[in-house]
Amino acid sequence: MQRSELKMIAEWFRDAGVSDITGDIPIIRKKTDCDVATLRELKEAMQSIDIPLKKCARNMVFGAGNEHAQILLLGEAPGEEEDRQGLPFVGQSGQLLDSILAAVGLDRSTVYITNILPWRPPGNRTPTNQEIEIFRPYVLKHIALVDPKIVVCLGGTAAKALLQTTQGIMQLRGKWTRADGIAAKILPTFHPAFLLRSPSQKREVWHDFLSVMKEIRTGSLS
Ligand code: URA
Repeated sequence: MQRSELKMIAEWFRDAGVSDITGDIPIIRKKTDCDVATLRELKEAMQSIDIPLKKCARNMVFGAGNEHAQILLLGEAPGEEEDRQGLPFVGQSGQLLDSILAAVGLDRSTVYITNILPWRPPGNRTPTNQEIEIFRPYVLKHIALVDPKIVVCLGGTAAKALLQTTQGIMQLRGKWTRADGIAAKILPTFHPAFLLRSPSQKREVWHDFLSVMKEIRTGSLS
């Protein structure tokens, strides 16, 4: 087949609303999926995504907290308890996250929390690159709608997805950065689940959240 014919076919699929015609997971996404003006519309658009991941989960975990917060916390994906309750960070990691927030004078009413994936991957496996690619535009829209001053990436998956880097969390942690398409400043830190396994690293996360609070008070990184 000629290149021009292939291009014509690809364009036909695109105009018909098929967004991904390669890869392991077939995805049919309306062209306007992310073209929404409110968090409610975004939630509805995400609920209508047709993806196998969704079929293994009990509930979609969209996000929770203060929709006008200056700080948005971005996790990886719901775990078992989050899947059960339909809320982010309500399991063991969530309890630790609450203590971290309390240590710097924050709580769930002063931050907004969401994840890269809105559905629990089977057996809590790590999200695949393809899943991350599929949900990245929704995450960017989610951040734009909340419009925080700061995004804290909790763990390597969130940091890599947002910053589109291959660097690991050990290199990225504690370094303020920016990403294309995101107005907020970004600070990667360790995931609370990692802290449950390596409590000695709590100190680093505490420093990161102190840096967040300093930035909120002074805007010193502007
Ligand atoms: N881990 C995450 O990354 N997100 C949650 O919501 C819960 C656990």
